[in-house]
Amino acid sequence: MVELAFSVLAADFAHLADEIAAAERGGGTIVHVDVMDGHFVPNITFGPPVVKAIRRVTKLPLDCHLMIEKPDDFIPAFAEAGANMISVHQEVCRHLHRTLQLIADHGMRPGVVLNPATPVDMLIEVLPMVHHVLVMSVNPGFGGQKFLPFALEKMMYLAELRHEMNLDFRIEVDGGVAHDTVGQVVEAGAEMLVAGSAIFGAGGAEANAKSFLEAARAAEARVEVEE
Ligand code: DX5
Ligand code: ZN
Repeated sequence: MVELAFSVLAADFAHLADEIAAAERGGGTIVHVDVMDGHFVPNITFGPPVVKAIRRVTKLPLDCHLMIEKPDDFIPAFAEAGANMISVHQEVCRHLHRTLQLIADHGMRPGVVLNPATPVDMLIEVLPMVHHVLVMSVNPGFGGQKFLPFALEKMMYLAELRHEMNLDFRIEVDGGVAHDTVGQVVEAGAEMLVAGSAIFGAGGAEANAKSFLEAARAAEARVEVEE
């Protein structure tokens, strides 16, 4: 079942609670929180205090995408703030297994993220312990970038590996996923669909989320017919 993980990065920060409520009314079921540190990515966003504030205005699961160096140092603070899922980048984790274990030990669902240039094979050993794998379809750091189509092959390969290894992790996609690309990512196997500007850009978040999910579900129905 596909889900919309709306990224609040593109929301109006001065009206965050209203924006989240609107995306939720439109059918969004996960709040995607993009945490950036100005080191791993060339941009700065928000940290645990904002996650804590969001926690107070929604019951939806909070999916924190950490684009930061040294994520281990901040995992306890995100748990304390009320995060439900934490994704860390393979590229910053020297001891990825230990970091994923730390997330799980703090009662959160661990996910791992791959930059566009990082191959899926880097994850084979940790796939049994992750709740989700997040495939970046843009270089992380900014919303509103163009979708990189070669990410589709990585999603298909992950779906294949999941089947071969008899696992049940979920496949998440992030970057440039909008009404015109959502069909392709769903057909490639993505189930947690991150979208920022497609939801909080032009128009209202409720209507945008609705039409986005309609397109996603139509693609999902096509995949089911083929199977
Ligand atoms: C990019 C972030 C994304 C971003 C997506 O570094 O990880 O979550 O908000 O934005 P759109 O959907 O506009 O590409
Ligand atoms: Zn993200």
